[in-house]
Amino acid sequence: EAVKALEKEFLIDDEFLRKGTDAFNKSLDNGLKAPKVGREFMPMIPAFVTKIPTGKEKGVYLAADLGGTNFRVCSVDLHGDHTYSLIQSKSAVSEDLQRGSDATGEQLFAYLAKKIDLFIREHHCTNDVVDSSDKFKMGFTFSFPVEQTSLGSGLLIRWTKGFHLDDVIGKDVVELLQAQLDKLGTPVHVVALANDTVGTLLSRAYSNKDSEHVKTIVGCIFGTGTNGAYFEAYDKIPKLKENIDTGSGMVINTEWGSFDNPLTFLPKTKYDDIVDNETSNIGYHLYEKRISGMFLGELVRVILIDLFEQGVLFKELYESRGGSLPHRLTEPWGLSSEILSYIHVDDSNDLKTTQVALDLSLRLPTTCAEREAIQQVTRIVADRAAKLSAIPIAAIAKRVSPQYPKNVEFEIGCDGSVVEFYPGFREKVTQYVNELDTDGRTVRLVIAKDGSGVGAALCACMAD
Ligand code: BG6
Ligand code: GLC
Repeated sequence: EAVKALEKEFLIDDEFLRKGTDAFNKSLDNGLKAPKVGREFMPMIPAFVTKIPTGKEKGVYLAADLGGTNFRVCSVDLHGDHTYSLIQSKSAVSEDLQRGSDATGEQLFAYLAKKIDLFIREHHCTNDVVDSSDKFKMGFTFSFPVEQTSLGSGLLIRWTKGFHLDDVIGKDVVELLQAQLDKLGTPVHVVALANDTVGTLLSRAYSNKDSEHVKTIVGCIFGTGTNGAYFEAYDKIPKLKENIDTGSGMVINTEWGSFDNPLTFLPKTKYDDIVDNETSNIGYHLYEKRISGMFLGELVRVILIDLFEQGVLFKELYESRGGSLPHRLTEPWGLSSEILSYIHVDDSNDLKTTQVALDLSLRLPTTCAEREAIQQVTRIVADRAAKLSAIPIAAIAKRVSPQYPKNVEFEIGCDGSVVEFYPGFREKVTQYVNELDTDGRTVRLVIAKDGSGVGAALCACMAD
């Protein structure tokens, strides 16, 4: 019964989704008007990218990519025929560097510069001599809300996801990275700054070989966080004060994670509140906190604790341990969304896979009945996320539809651990989007592999 009640509380029906797309469309306009980025508006950040790639772009560019699970450095060779080759190195950014109590922006950017320097030594040097007499041009994918001041500069508005380094807020993140590269004498010039969604949009458009029949209209991420970017006409961007005389519009980084921060529309459960209160950006990015990889596991964990407190789960375990539960279950952020992805599709006898996954991740022994409940909770939380994820995509498809011939289909370039690896997520979002009003367009979600790296390289190419 307790799980049934949850199911009801998390239910999103068709009517809700229809209203959601209208509410989202209004939020786009409000954000495009708002002169300042406040809590109540979606940031809607002009990205200073004024054209979508054709696939003919050419050259070798570097890309650095910060903001997902890993920091990546890539060198991308754009062949000019929709294809590219890419070398990359990946490294994790420790929690300490992201939000340690005495961590600073300087330490973070020094770490990034060092990784870039190592990459150049490994891949672009012969006998310790750099393979180019000029500096390498680099695009920097920085996946946080940045008030972009040109294609190659931008001030951090605030951190999201797990990052929290106060001294970076309000600073130009390109300058910070360049300063650390210069200190090391690394022959790199950071010429462009892009959000991961902007990179994903550009890279998917570059790879699209059939742009006559299929248009890439959105680049989006469903990973640690969620966000999307699309091309907007100048006359719909009243807040853009700069005089831009190229093209008909500009790519906008929506920062849709902040859709409906005032919670006038989004579902609110006590679990959503608990999770929000555990974050370092309370009251912000509340849509993201219902959808993306950083939060799904935590939502499930918080629900499991509530079910324990209601006397539904882990009663015997609690007693057998003399009045305690495994600390990994009781401490925030212990349950990752990756574990949910195994539980979600487990059809083994007695849910043995779930048993092993919970044992390994949380040191949590369970009965079969408990595992069944946990699997249902997982599905309830993940299905709400997939439904809510359809809203921005359908809303943007309908919004931009009049700009394109009627026979053109739409594709959405996407990247991120949830859309790539969570079983059934992409299929479900695709289904829900196509059940909504997309002005009669078929909409496909396509994984844009290496999206951010190739996108940053394309931005650097444009800046060049
Ligand atoms: C990666 C991109 O593939 O996906 C990053 O290179 C992006 O730019 C990331 O931020 C999002 O996924 P996750 O799961 O790492 O947040
Ligand atoms: C967060 C960031 C945003 C990024 C998204 C996906 O929402 O604020 O800039 O695009 O995560 O990585």
